[in-house]
Amino acid sequence: MKNDFKNVPKHYAARSDEKMKEVLMDPAGTGPAIHYYMIRGGSEQKNITIWEPGTISGEYIKTYGHYHIGDLSETYWVLFGKGVALLQKLAEDENGEMTADVVEEFRAISVGAGQEVFMPKKFGHLLANVGETYFVTADDSPVDFEERDPASFPGHADYDFVQKMRGFAYYVVENNGEPALKKNPLYKSIKKEDLGGLKVIE
Ligand SMILES: [Fe+2]
Repeated sequence: MKNDFKNVPKHYAARSDEKMKEVLMDPAGTGPAIHYYMIRGGSEQKNITIWEPGTISGEYIKTYGHYHIGDLSETYWVLFGKGVALLQKLAEDENGEMTADVVEEFRAISVGAGQEVFMPKKFGHLLANVGETYFVTADDSPVDFEERDPASFPGHADYDFVQKMRGFAYYVVENNGEPALKKNPLYKSIKKEDLGGLKVIE
């Protein structure tokens, strides 16, 4: 192990409440100053993400969510806490371009410490912290440190579709102390879904 810290890229990144308002169920809700913290090490060292616990107008604290550019899959290992992973694949038009508001396939998966969740290529993904403690994961996503503001928004990820649709097709919300799902009205349709046993509330 080399101890040359002069050329070490910036590994720490944090997602602010201001940025997260773009994708919250209630953009006027009050969240913590930072929703989640990341140490980005890339495929080799892995990336560590730590979520704050809590809800914002009933919605559990989550990651922003993104799609990968290219045929890149990813694995998340849950180290601590309880979460719900949301995966969604958008429908594609005749030119192979993703359609922002039509979901080809949606999956919700409940996960806890010791479990892993695989994000297949083409599936946008986010994770929500549905427990009462920090939620902590490791993942093997590559990080391009050459990009502008690389630690915060790695070059392999596309955030525009999620921003445009103000989140995924469902929000993960608290219902009598348990996680449930609530539809995002901006989406036109979901062709196929597996909600992992989670209840859908109005
Ligand atoms: Fe990813």
